[in-house]
Amino acid sequence: MSAPTEQEIETLEGDLTRQIERAADEAGLEDLRVKMLGKKGQVSLMLKTLGKMSPEERQIVGPALNGLKTRLVDLIAARQKNLSDAALDAALETERVDVTLPTYPEQNGSIHPVSQVMAEMTQIFADMGFSIAEGPDIEDDFHNFTALNFPEGHPARDMHDTFFFPEDETGSRKLLRTHTSPVQIRHMMANKPPIRIIVPGRTFRCDSDQTHTPMFHQVEGLVIDKETHMGHLKGCLVEFVKAFFEVDSLDYRFRPHFFPFTEPSAEMDIGYEVVNGEQRLGTGAKYMEILGCGMVHPNVLKNVGLDPDVYQGFAFGMGIDRLAMLKYGINDLRPFFDADVRWLDHYGFRPLDMPTLAGGLSR
Ligand code: DAH
Repeated sequence: MSAPTEQEIETLEGDLTRQIERAADEAGLEDLRVKMLGKKGQVSLMLKTLGKMSPEERQIVGPALNGLKTRLVDLIAARQKNLSDAALDAALETERVDVTLPTYPEQNGSIHPVSQVMAEMTQIFADMGFSIAEGPDIEDDFHNFTALNFPEGHPARDMHDTFFFPEDETGSRKLLRTHTSPVQIRHMMANKPPIRIIVPGRTFRCDSDQTHTPMFHQVEGLVIDKETHMGHLKGCLVEFVKAFFEVDSLDYRFRPHFFPFTEPSAEMDIGYEVVNGEQRLGTGAKYMEILGCGMVHPNVLKNVGLDPDVYQGFAFGMGIDRLAMLKYGINDLRPFFDADVRWLDHYGFRPLDMPTLAGGLSR
């Protein structure tokens, strides 16, 4: 390559400048930069010829070429800034987000009242130091009845309207658990006291009407320690009920009852009144039963290998669906399990509102 004349350099500059000004986008501009100033770029190659020039030639062409290079670098940088500003403006224009618009796609799902109430209960009991335990839906006679102190042939077994499976080869029949109490047995056999658990879960009984479905939900509670008494049981449940129904004062009574697995046993009733056809829970002259409870029977402790002279505890059980119906004014249980979107739209809860004690259980 022979040394370019000043004239040639000037023409070249005009040409290159136009190319830079016409670059349509940043990628195109980068291609141009490589073509002009890259290692094998047009201007770089010219600069390489300086070494072979005579000193006189170099004195003229050198500054001209270096000047060209500097101006091209500046020009490219300026054009680059223009192009990137324009690209940003375009992106801002087309990708504009109106944060005041409602969420899209529209929030369609909702939390089922049973899930909502389970979450509310879990919050309240977790705050009192309980953890969650679970057990299988398919149980055996030992865990569902025998270990819970239901004697063989005791009528309480029949009262549970149990769904039995066909006999297996050993002649025993599995069953769908009729309550969450068998998880007490499983948990005590696998864990050492102190124990503080709640057990939310599915339960099954052959029964169906406005307030009974063959599958329903219960939450069981169990506390085992060395010094546990009826006062703890009352305190715990009264606190729970106040928090759950979101009332400051509560009329309640514990009425003696019978459960094979507790002694003494009680049912807890809470006060309510009917105002303009609407049931108001918490206080009032009438009472309704909301849960069963009692001190864990010594036989149950023995059945799981605990010494009743050392350990005592209390237990309680309640229907989640029924509490959901009471709290949220739902008068038929059956649609709980119909998966009818219209019902869910009406009675469901907003998915992102998690119940908390501080922020409110239900809003
Ligand atoms: N398992 C009882 C039922 O299904 C409910 C119950 C009552 C559970 C008293 C308990 C309890 O743990 O102490 O009807």
